[in-house]
Amino acid sequence: MGGSLIALFALVTLGFAYETCLSREKNPYLFFGTKTSYIVASRGGPTHTKVHEVPACEPVAFWMLYRHESYEPEEEEIRRLQVLNDFKKDVVSNYRRSIYNKTNHRICLPDYQLIESWEWKPPRHNLMFAGDTSSEEFIDALKLAQNWRQRYPNLFTENRRNYKFKYMMDDRRSTTSLGGLSRGLFNKSVVYDDFLSEHDNKLLRPHKFCEAWTKNVGDTPIQLRLFEAKQEYKEMIRNVSLRLGFNYDISADAIRIIFDMCRYDKAWDISKVSPWCAVFTRDDLRRLEYAEDLETYYNYGHGNELNAKVGCVFVKDMMNFFTSHVGNELPQQPQVMLQFTEAPALLLTLAAMGAHKDPVHLEGHNYHSAPMQARKWSSSKMAPFNANLAAVLYRCRLNGSYQHKVLLLLNEKPISLDWCTSGVCEWSQFVIKLGEVANGCDLEACNETHIGRNVAILVVAVAFIFLAAVVAALWCRSILNRGKISK
Ligand SMILES: *[C@@H]1O[C@H](CO)[C@@H](O)[C@H](O)[C@H]1NC(C)=O
Ligand SMILES: *[C@@H]1O[C@H](CO)[C@@H](O)[C@H](O)[C@H]1NC(C)=O
Ligand SMILES: *[C@@H]1O[C@H](CO)[C@@H](O)[C@H](O)[C@H]1NC(C)=O
Ligand SMILES: *[C@@H]1O[C@H](CO)[C@@H](O)[C@H](O)[C@H]1NC(C)=O
Repeated sequence: MGGSLIALFALVTLGFAYETCLSREKNPYLFFGTKTSYIVASRGGPTHTKVHEVPACEPVAFWMLYRHESYEPEEEEIRRLQVLNDFKKDVVSNYRRSIYNKTNHRICLPDYQLIESWEWKPPRHNLMFAGDTSSEEFIDALKLAQNWRQRYPNLFTENRRNYKFKYMMDDRRSTTSLGGLSRGLFNKSVVYDDFLSEHDNKLLRPHKFCEAWTKNVGDTPIQLRLFEAKQEYKEMIRNVSLRLGFNYDISADAIRIIFDMCRYDKAWDISKVSPWCAVFTRDDLRRLEYAEDLETYYNYGHGNELNAKVGCVFVKDMMNFFTSHVGNELPQQPQVMLQFTEAPALLLTLAAMGAHKDPVHLEGHNYHSAPMQARKWSSSKMAPFNANLAAVLYRCRLNGSYQHKVLLLLNEKPISLDWCTSGVCEWSQFVIKLGEVANGCDLEACNETHIGRNVAILVVAVAFIFLAAVVAALWCRSILNRGKISK
């Protein structure tokens, strides 16, 4: 309290050139990469439009990839976030000692007070595991399911045989989002076992089973390292450090921890001000977002050709599912295929479909360029919490005969592809474009390292044989020579 008064006094008596008061921002920037809240990412979705109504057509099958990851941090992450307990003490000490005097930057008193009174609390989801029906996670999933049911009442019926679930073996079976989803779909809690289900880790996490991917991708991409070494990223670190009263740059890792706490705070309660978000300006947040876009672009997106070759498994699954419906006049069961997976799988699939492809690569040096500022590859919009990629097969009556169409939706918004810009694609086009992806989907590229290793073994073997021949020749000669000498 005394500290606050002193600080208030300092605030009144001194003018700071760069004081920020971001907790009072009316329109805060909320695009936080893969930890973006679903309502932020899906804003402007089709809730009020009627994209799902395709004239002269009726929906016959529904396929969806659903990002089934909890809004809670993992245990390891929780340990990381708890570092902020000590970090906060440093910030408070900086403020009390008026270190700001020298730097001319600082956060305003209300922002400071938010940090001062902050303490680490375990996320409330831990406390009311899976039963917290008031959490954002539950409500987002509930609303999503209700939307689908409303739009497609003849697909999302009470009949269990209409559904098929695919989920991962080591998945926690009862997360808050699954609770919300099943409440929205069936008006009750559900266990997978009630339904036709399958657990296929290899399908749902294909990259983890791809040797070439685990060897060559999945690390910190070079372009991300480049970006973090650039002036625009360092300037962000510098500004945040100064604002919090450090006369040196805090580590890039500390910045990421603050950012993560900010993102979780907003995921848990979007309407609540987060003391840690108030540390970042819009410009800072856009840089952090770009860093995550670089990471996902190279690890799961168009930044590496292997990604599309791995993501094809989902395209293949969808094509197989729809083909069985297209080939039959009578309704087929199941009509609804739900795959519970993670953000990487969703991004890999979009890469395989050729979606969200930019004319130039995302790179460490082109952050300020116009194409990057308007980039299509956006982890905030593509893979927020609760992300979902849906494909709906329609049967259309045209001149007395039937034709099929497919509506593609990412987070409930139509996806634009080169060959299908409206989101509603002709089945014939679908078969040509995505059928090609599905047919060529053999994961052969994952074995590249095998080929490499075989070549290496061959080289070693040839070298060995050659060496053995040389040794043998020398030995023979020495025997002959010895023979000569003994004569
Ligand atoms: C901060 O600067 C003001 C004048 O600019 C000065 O009066 C005050 O003593 C300084 N405080 C500290 C802690 O250096
Ligand atoms: C959901 O189930 C409850 C009882 O479990 C019932 O009272 C309620 O009307 C149901 N709501 C809908 C929308 O079916
Ligand atoms: C950092 O602060 C300076 C003012 O000291 C400002 O000109 C610059 O735009 C800021 N950079 C970022 C990334 O916000
Ligand atoms: C439907 O029939 C009309 C004439 O009867 C024809 O002009 C039109 O091209 C046909 N449309 C399709 C999709 O075959």
